[in-house]
Amino acid sequence: MVLSTCSGVCCSDVGVTAQKENFRRMMRTVETLSDLGPEMTAEREFAQTAQSMLSALIQAAGASEGVLFVFIEKPSMLNSIATSGFALIPEPSVIPLLPRHVHALGSTQGAVLLSHSSYDTFLSANGNVAPELFKCVAPLKVSGKLVGAVALGRREGDSPYDEEGLQSLDMLCHYVALSVQNHSLTQTLAQRVAENLRLMASLHGFYDSALEAFATAIDVKHVNIHGHSLRVGRYSAAIGEAIGMDMNEVAALRSAGYLHDIGKVAVDKRLFGKPTTLDPEEFREMADHTTVGHQIVTGVNFPWPRIPEIVRWHHERADGSGYPDGLQNEDVPMQVRIVGLADTFDAMTSARPYREPISLGATLNEIVRMTPLKFDANAVHALLIQIRRDAVGGNRIPLLEDRSAGNLAPTDVDHLAATLQHKISNGRSYLT
Ligand SMILES: [Fe+2]
Repeated sequence: MVLSTCSGVCCSDVGVTAQKENFRRMMRTVETLSDLGPEMTAEREFAQTAQSMLSALIQAAGASEGVLFVFIEKPSMLNSIATSGFALIPEPSVIPLLPRHVHALGSTQGAVLLSHSSYDTFLSANGNVAPELFKCVAPLKVSGKLVGAVALGRREGDSPYDEEGLQSLDMLCHYVALSVQNHSLTQTLAQRVAENLRLMASLHGFYDSALEAFATAIDVKHVNIHGHSLRVGRYSAAIGEAIGMDMNEVAALRSAGYLHDIGKVAVDKRLFGKPTTLDPEEFREMADHTTVGHQIVTGVNFPWPRIPEIVRWHHERADGSGYPDGLQNEDVPMQVRIVGLADTFDAMTSARPYREPISLGATLNEIVRMTPLKFDANAVHALLIQIRRDAVGGNRIPLLEDRSAGNLAPTDVDHLAATLQHKISNGRSYLT
């Protein structure tokens, strides 16, 4: 009885002490969690967050050494994202896993103590870190799926891991697992975006080559228009570049230039070689290349949205005198105005069955004379910038390539630019 009473009191004391200890441990874990929350959601490098999480895990288990691993699925391996306490450990530490290791880590509930007989169950010895460094491993899982692991080394004073320490560790592991998974998903997403960009870049390369071939095919109808679409593509891109458009917009302009006359595939070949100007009926048939071209490209899913508008409207003029819709400058996007200007510039400087090519100087004079009535002043200014670069010379490939700048001097281009500026400011001069 005494024994019984005495034993009951002692057990009760021990029980109360154990409960108090458990309560303190639980409070410490809750405190750690509340400290870890802001750390995990802070806007900073994940390496720092991983280090904070590992410190919390080590502290919860009373360990002095540990490694936080992320699980990589293909090929299966644990890759360290934070280490602490070990005197000498490779960074990153890598442990390749066989399917049986993945299965064992994925199916174990909570942290497990490691011994010589169980190392090979959970970890392989084929990595750059020996599994024997670890005394305990806790898998990190989200919805039953392995996302990482924390492996702990010796404990402070080399004492064995106790049940409460492992329970605190398990509690934190749920939260750490979410953060590790979130990081892995972000990494995967970044990889996918990079892959998509690479794919898009290769597609753009494909489009460029395919459209170049297409542009050549559009212009085979007559020797006088050979190379016209390729040149309009090149001039349009150069004008866009001088205006300050980005690489994608410049690529779109080049492609639009290649395709602007695609409707000409439906025009009678005879009209292209006619040595006199077209009669009204012939002109209408020729003008229809804009609407026919529009019908052709509308059904094609190009990576650039403006192609159909450019094909339809490249003969529109700023004052509404163009065709097919009689739109004014502000009614059409800048890309349309650029291709329209490039088209006119190439047509004027090329031979026609009924006339010789017009000289570069005379062409530019005429274009400036017709601006802003027919053409967009900013586009014309950008064309003059590129022509001036040709006139100055240098190592770059000239805009005009096969047609030289003749005897056009940089000062001649400057004069044209000043005339253009004077016209668009209505003769007003501004003193600075
Ligand atoms: Fe055209």
